[in-house]
Amino acid sequence: MILVTGGAGYIGTHTCTELLNSGYDVLVLDNYSNSSPLALDRVERITQKTLIRIEGDARDPDLLDQLFANYPIKAVIHFAGFKAVGESCQIPLAYYHNNFYSTLVLSQCMQKAGITKLVFSSSATVYGDPEVVPLTEAMPTNPANPYGRTKLMVEQMLQDLAASDALATDNPQPWGIALLRYFNPVGAHQSGLIGEDPSGIPNNLMPFITQVAVGKRDQLDVFGDDYDTPDGTGVRDYIHVVDLARGHVMALERLLDDQITGAEAINLGTGLGVSVLDMVNSFTNNNSVAVPYQIADRRAGDVASYYADPSKAFDMLGWSAEHTLSDMVTDSWRWQKNNPEGYAD
Ligand code: NAD
Ligand code: UFG
Repeated sequence: MILVTGGAGYIGTHTCTELLNSGYDVLVLDNYSNSSPLALDRVERITQKTLIRIEGDARDPDLLDQLFANYPIKAVIHFAGFKAVGESCQIPLAYYHNNFYSTLVLSQCMQKAGITKLVFSSSATVYGDPEVVPLTEAMPTNPANPYGRTKLMVEQMLQDLAASDALATDNPQPWGIALLRYFNPVGAHQSGLIGEDPSGIPNNLMPFITQVAVGKRDQLDVFGDDYDTPDGTGVRDYIHVVDLARGHVMALERLLDDQITGAEAINLGTGLGVSVLDMVNSFTNNNSVAVPYQIADRRAGDVASYYADPSKAFDMLGWSAEHTLSDMVTDSWRWQKNNPEGYAD
């Protein structure tokens, strides 16, 4: 059985779907601070399988101890956390508490229970504003905001934890930790039943585009067209969430059979840079729906361009992205069109 913290969220629901389809038993721990239990109903509908759900907080050591004692958990995927860059500048302590402290408590409880296989949701944000692209895992990390720093601090803590194995005298089960650095997750499950359901005004490009397309918002602001990129708009490495979810299952398998030990940072991206206007055009052309936009000022804190070198994921996990940009825009639109109000529908 796999414990999935934050399993009711955007990436969590897609990963639970892949886990169940791959034959794993799944226990979701979620406090629904940014999600709905209805999302898990949809996962069960897609997979025709059931998962165990516990409503609770990933920072609660007593609850974690109970779960590890009562269920045959072999590994943990830790999604629970906050993810909005701007908000992390306004309420940094809440971000350190939820992102860093939750992982500290979780790792302590795992260690106590003798469970040493962990997949952690890191982020390309740890690289900051890169001097060179594509980004390899060996390149310097220098996050530009509190959110990114919480992710880097967790990575460093988990690297220290894995390194402590070499000094252990009592020969415990060695740690195997995958620090998955996601680039920009977009898209939705092909069924149109699960997808990204942001609360309030979306911060990210794809949910904003889909909400404009469905008529919930008038137009998209394109944040800057004077960057040093082919069309002047920001370039990112967008990755289909189902590919991302597959990456988690493949990482988990390598951890469970001890092919990965220690703590390994691994990029999950496609290696392709896509501009804001590329994305808008692809969305419009593939879905035959208009996305009115205007060029606006640059958004504070944005960088011009970054994308992954995903070769380590291929070498270590045998993983590479399979979905195209056209899949991403088509699947995002199907989800939004079928669920204009997200899970509230
Ligand atoms: P999400 O907000 O949709 O999912 C997070 C889930 O965790 C939600 O269901 C929320 O209710 C739950 N949660 C939050 N704090 C909790 C706590 N203390 N205890 C229990 N449950 C808690 O976000 P997502 O997009 O699915 O992201 C998942 C993870 O991936 C996060 O850690 C995020 O930082 C990381 N990440 C996301 C992106 C992205 O662009 N979506 C990119 C890089 C990394
Ligand atoms: N953009 C717009 N208009 C919008 C929203 C975004 O033009 O309304 C542009 C941005 O300026 C940027 C690109 O679209 O050039 C992508 O922006 P997003 O907000 O979608 O994504 P970011 O690259 O800023 O960051 C996202 C998540 C982070 C995560 C990171 C991983 O917000 O949490 O990807 O690379 F860590």
